Amino acid sequence: MATHPKHPNLIVFDHPLIQHKLTHLRDRETGFRACRALMFQIAGLMVYEVTRTFPSERVTIQTPIEPFEGRRINAKITVVPVLRAGLGMAEGVLDAMPEARVGHIGLFRDEETLNPIQYLSRLPKDLDAGPVILVDPMLATGGSASKAIAMLKAAGATDIRMLCLVASPEGVQRLAHDHPELTIYAAALDRALNEHGYIMPGLGDAGDRLYGTG
Ligand code: PRP
Ligand code: URA
Repeated sequence: MATHPKHPNLIVFDHPLIQHKLTHLRDRETGFRACRALMFQIAGLMVYEVTRTFPSERVTIQTPIEPFEGRRINAKITVVPVLRAGLGMAEGVLDAMPEARVGHIGLFRDEETLNPIQYLSRLPKDLDAGPVILVDPMLATGGSASKAIAMLKAAGATDIRMLCLVASPEGVQRLAHDHPELTIYAAALDRALNEHGYIMPGLGDAGDRLYGTG
């Protein structure tokens, strides 16, 4: 898939099935049970593109008929959700890739400053043993994602991809500045942020939409 014409660090999925599900998820009438299912499904669909360049090796196996030379991914994959809302996407990714390890990063935004506050980091030790997929549905100011990526780098990760549902231009630009080597995979690039740092049109507070805490 091609990168976005204005943002070389961004790939947007314009697939009709993903857009259909995302529209349902954005709808304020959609309740938390449906939101959870939709986020799971969209993440599962997006995983195929995010993993396209994963390293693989040739391997010979025996079919019931004859030998066959196939391919096997030869790296340790780590999926890292940013709590809380990233958990909703991580489940969908893991459904498609059950052999992946899971690290957890806990961040929440200070409502006044919009700066991320860290409360958890549980990551595998050998993060450099393969690709790391950072998952968080919302890329708003980019503060949380930038911090999470810095934490992954400090923990040794060398191949990081970011998977989100809705990105803002501000967040995409922030990551291009802070982590220029990173590719962001998003289901949508929205218009802008409002004065409270929420994405417009967005889908509201992703954690609240998923867990019914709004
Ligand atoms: C949301 C979202 C991101 C962050 C994005 O989490 O899941 O982590 O906001 O905003 P930013 O790009 O401006 O940093 P939130 O802080 O609401 O925590 P929660 O998932 O626990 O509700
Ligand atoms: N976090 C959310 O959950 N939604 C937004 O629109 C921005 C930050």
